[in-house]
Amino acid sequence: MTGTEPAAQYIDTTRPHPARVYDWFLGGKDNYPVDERLGRQIAAVDGGGAPRAARANRAFMHRVTRALAEDGVRQFLDVGTGIPTEPNLHQIAQSVAPDARVVYVDNDPIVLAHAGALLRGTPEGVTEYAQADAREPHAILEQAAHVLDFPRPVALSLIALLHFVADEDGAHELVSALVDALAPGSCLVLSMMTADFEPENVEKGIAAYAAGGVTLVARSRAEVAAFFRGLELLEPGVVPVDAWRPAEAPDGAGPVSLYGAVGRKR
Ligand SMILES: C[S@@+](CC[C@H](N)C(=O)[O-])C[C@H]1O[C@@H](n2cnc3c(N)ncnc32)[C@H](O)[C@@H]1O
Repeated sequence: MTGTEPAAQYIDTTRPHPARVYDWFLGGKDNYPVDERLGRQIAAVDGGGAPRAARANRAFMHRVTRALAEDGVRQFLDVGTGIPTEPNLHQIAQSVAPDARVVYVDNDPIVLAHAGALLRGTPEGVTEYAQADAREPHAILEQAAHVLDFPRPVALSLIALLHFVADEDGAHELVSALVDALAPGSCLVLSMMTADFEPENVEKGIAAYAAGGVTLVARSRAEVAAFFRGLELLEPGVVPVDAWRPAEAPDGAGPVSLYGAVGRKR
């Protein structure tokens, strides 16, 4: 499923990439000077909010995945996976349910280059990686069907992904196409950037990304909620990621400019 050609030859180190800038925010080592430069620029203009938001987002993924696995979900489709950062989603899911089946998807060759770390799961479960673009949901579904049994519930996570896909580029259509393929009892997990709390800082961050050639969109709470139309929003609804069933002590002060939510298909 991962393809055989060496991914490294496709890695462009001349311009920043979202997966690598995010890795830098998380303190990772799988990024290049061009990514670090943009990361430092954003951290300087947004008052240091971006690295804290990245950590809060990762902690949101941990809590949601654990909650869904504890609730009986055994299949996970994670689109926009990012560079491996322990614990990864499959490690959380399989720590609760060793037989959990996980398919990771990303379109960045750097993630493919590191996919080996994502494939070390439990012997009872399955973890697979597919190189694909979220804007081609049918290709994702076709590849995921080799591992996931779509007549049974799946947790579909698009975590810190949709702010890279504008509405005009099909953000709603891709979510609908994926959710339509899911069985009742499946869940949609989203997190994405908002300018609701710190509009000036977020606008500066968006401008810095744009100068690096990366398009970012911020969405209001109502715009995030619109992705869950037709689904039952689980408690506590659409909230900043650090306020979704918080379990850890607060990591610094001030708002986190990412909304997170989980919806269940009836
Ligand atoms: C900020 S990282 C989030 C990683 C992880 N989901 C998390 O929240 O910790 C966003 C990821 O989305 C990926 N991505 C962006 N646009 C994508 C697209 N159109 N199709 C697939 N992946 C995409 C990037 O390559 C990157 O790895």
